[in-house]
Amino acid sequence: MSKYKQDILEYLMMHKGNYVSGQKLAEQFNVSRTAIWKAIEVLKTQGYSVESIKNKGYRITSVPDHWDSDLLSYVLGDSIFQKQFVYEEVTSTQTIAHELLMEFDEPLLVLSEIQTVGRGRFKRPWASKRDTGLWMSLVLHPNISYQQIATFNLFISIAIAEAIKNVTQLEPKIKWPNDVYINDKKVCGFLTEINGDSDGVHTIICGIGININHKLEDFDETIRDTATSFKLESKTDTDRYIFIKALIDSIEHYYEAFLTQPFKEIKEIYKGYSMIWDRTLRYTEGNKQIYGKAIDLKDDGVLVVLDDTGERHQFISADIEV
Ligand code: BTN
Repeated sequence: MSKYKQDILEYLMMHKGNYVSGQKLAEQFNVSRTAIWKAIEVLKTQGYSVESIKNKGYRITSVPDHWDSDLLSYVLGDSIFQKQFVYEEVTSTQTIAHELLMEFDEPLLVLSEIQTVGRGRFKRPWASKRDTGLWMSLVLHPNISYQQIATFNLFISIAIAEAIKNVTQLEPKIKWPNDVYINDKKVCGFLTEINGDSDGVHTIICGIGININHKLEDFDETIRDTATSFKLESKTDTDRYIFIKALIDSIEHYYEAFLTQPFKEIKEIYKGYSMIWDRTLRYTEGNKQIYGKAIDLKDDGVLVVLDDTGERHQFISADIEV
């Protein structure tokens, strides 16, 4: 049944807006009209609105607003992430991705409607509310040196910022190294974990969390002043399928760039999105803490910061307080 459902769904989506007769679908997939009717009933139980009119056929009028693996696979088409794992609830897509990569050699996309133990950088908790955001981990197999991995976050943050800008028309800004902000509030955080051996890095597990359709009350009180969502900034809902398609396209583009180009080729684009220049901010890395202004981002991804006393500091990763 699931196979028919996916085929029928794809066919109806390709003809969205038009009616397709039950007879046509039955011939197309070489099944009975009853089998078609049953598959349509399954689609309806999964949140699709399907109009059926006698002598005209079936037409999809709206798609579910929760994640559905068949619709996701249709939307992402021939993306490099052909292995997709969609869950209703997991502890953390990052944890699941680590388990799945033991079984599969190809790129993986792990998506969940809810995470019960979502985690951020520095072991901080990451709130992941149902039907509102995008909680996803990607597994990639780059075969690169440990040195090369340093710029991965820079490419990915442009990919995320660009997708947000294109879909929402908002003005996202990158907070080096792993956050995206809109109007000085955090809308996205991501973390990059790696597996490697003496030959270098062979697996990247990149977990991305994006607040999309959150209302203010969807955020815990403790982060209401510092977090935001596309909806809060644009006053409109964003179709999460349109956004994930734009995001995956953008990530594929910048991942290819990461594998084939030095960071200096896209450094100016990065700087254009960066929100940390000309601001005195607090930088924390391990036990080290300073107040200073970022003055340079080197070609290897190292950030140079000048503190109040005029001393230069270099960071490869840090927690920055804005
Ligand atoms: C941060 O800002 O500290 C990074 C947040 C990363 C959150 C994402 S949501 C999907 C993936 N699964 C997790 O548990 N964490 C990442």
